[in-house]
Amino acid sequence: MSIILGIETSCDETAAAIVADQTHVVANVIYTQTVHAEYGGVVPELASREHVSRLRPLVVDAFDIARIKPARIDGIAVTRGPGLIGCLLVGVSYAKGLSVALGKPFIGVNHLEGHVVSNRLVTPDFPFPHVTLIVSGGHTSLVRIDSWEKYETLGQTRDDAAGEALDKIGKLVGFPYPAGPTIDRTARDGNPEAIKFPRAWLEEGSLDFSFSGVKTSAAVYLEKHAEAAKEESLPDFLASFQAAIVDVLVEKLIAAAQKIDAKGVALAGGVASNSQLRAETRAAADKSGLAFSAPPAEYCTDNAAMIAARGAIELDAGRFSPLDTVAVPTWPVGGDPVG
Ligand code: KG4
Ligand code: ZN
Repeated sequence: MSIILGIETSCDETAAAIVADQTHVVANVIYTQTVHAEYGGVVPELASREHVSRLRPLVVDAFDIARIKPARIDGIAVTRGPGLIGCLLVGVSYAKGLSVALGKPFIGVNHLEGHVVSNRLVTPDFPFPHVTLIVSGGHTSLVRIDSWEKYETLGQTRDDAAGEALDKIGKLVGFPYPAGPTIDRTARDGNPEAIKFPRAWLEEGSLDFSFSGVKTSAAVYLEKHAEAAKEESLPDFLASFQAAIVDVLVEKLIAAAQKIDAKGVALAGGVASNSQLRAETRAAADKSGLAFSAPPAEYCTDNAAMIAARGAIELDAGRFSPLDTVAVPTWPVGGDPVG
């Protein structure tokens, strides 16, 4: 078993972590970039520059917290894709440099497979096969997990990611980016049945998602009913909008699990922190006799512990990346990088 340094720089979190024996997190440090808040979304060039200045101090912090010297690690795991190419390049270049300097192997990790493995950190014995819903600002996918290294995408969004739809409507009502957590808190005081927003089920049996319709429907509603954004009506509006997204996510996750005769369902990604999504998924899993797992918030949001944990599986199996490995903006779960 090994000690792995994990590095994550695919979007707007700069993160470093040290994980021992595949699942034991000994250090996990994250800097969530605040520079994007005033723009209402991630500005790629600013994100890359923040990674450049923040990454090294975070790696030093991780070693301090773990109380080990860099020479003690067995390898470096870094997010290779998918993500913003300029951001990925910062982490990948840094990891390669460290790999050469320390004479340790490096492993280019699929960010989404990292999200899948985040559940292993909290539920190491979660039964196989299970289905993981990866739901974040950039992704919404259902993934079949047959072992901690065997994955297959069952369905994904055809347009907006769930978090993206939440963030866009949050922006319209004046919430800072990212709006998901504020929507979550505000919706707790609202009635999810106050406004009937559409649910996009797509074709019979489809495990794909579409959130652009419900997003447009909510935006049009706001245009027609300006009072919906006022303080007293906002909880009902947001609870109804959030429910239209959560209902579809939960129903398709359970349908996917039943289709493959899975033993459990898991949540991963930033939106997996959502209290309504967690509560509904747990209840639906209980009703269907399925095991349930969802990581705590620090492992839902982008983090390097999950990257180290995913990399550890590769390294312990004797697999690592050659030094000419490049960052890749597109890379499906369980598949080959695109481009
Ligand atoms: O995984 P993540 O940190 O980064 C991406 O890969 O996108 O996810 C960020 C997304 C944002 O859209 C944010 O609004 C959403 O996760 N999010 C939430 C909550 N916490 C974060 N959405 C709903 N409820 C939450 N509690
Ligand atoms: Zn992510």
